[in-house]
Amino acid sequence: MSNLYILDHPLIQHKITYIRDVNTGTKQFRELVNEVSMLMGFEITRNLPVKTTEVKTPVTTCESQVLTGKKIGIIPILRAGLGMVDGLLELLPAAKVGHIGLYRDPETLQPVEYYIKLPTDIQERILIVVDPMLATGGSANDAIDSLKKRGAKSIKLMCLVAAPEGVKLIQENHPDVDIYLGALDESLDEDGYIVPGLGDAGDRLFGTK
Ligand code: PRP
Ligand code: URA
Repeated sequence: MSNLYILDHPLIQHKITYIRDVNTGTKQFRELVNEVSMLMGFEITRNLPVKTTEVKTPVTTCESQVLTGKKIGIIPILRAGLGMVDGLLELLPAAKVGHIGLYRDPETLQPVEYYIKLPTDIQERILIVVDPMLATGGSANDAIDSLKKRGAKSIKLMCLVAAPEGVKLIQENHPDVDIYLGALDESLDEDGYIVPGLGDAGDRLFGTK
């Protein structure tokens, strides 16, 4: 079963409150999503492999740790996942970025894939799939299927807000994928929106409504 991490750090929770707020405009929404993504990045990178090396300080030499250089890939689900990329790149500047374009059909709520472009060596990378919303879970589930079909072996999923239905779907279909959330909300409404949620993440990020 995938591990589920709800990142309850006060700074993350504070910023998510303002992201939810209907009175938060596009500019501030985008800045907050960026900042929360960076803060969540601290947790998602907690178990990156390290090795011990010797370092000479001005005083003496000692053993200390450095990253082993395990390669990372950040995979935003378009559109809204784009808002989470820069925050993670602040922490992981050498990461490569792959894109998966999916939209939810408004009638069926089923995801439709319209674009995919990935780093060529995804099978060697730790992939972090990012999308602000995990609602029915259909989009993230399809994105993870697509990555696995192309050879991905290590995948994490990072979302700002999720519904229980989405978490359940990923845990059932992808028990090897750990899930990192800023908040786990109550439910979905009849249109597939997360309640209380934050509304349409793509529209709020890009000002399209
Ligand atoms: C939103 C969101 C997720 C998806 C979540 O994207 O960014 O990708 O819905 O819903 P699900 O868990 O039920 O699949 P949307 O389809 O609105 O596309 P957009 O990002 O281009 O606005
Ligand atoms: N997609 C969104 O952007 N918001 C939701 O609440 C659900 C799906």
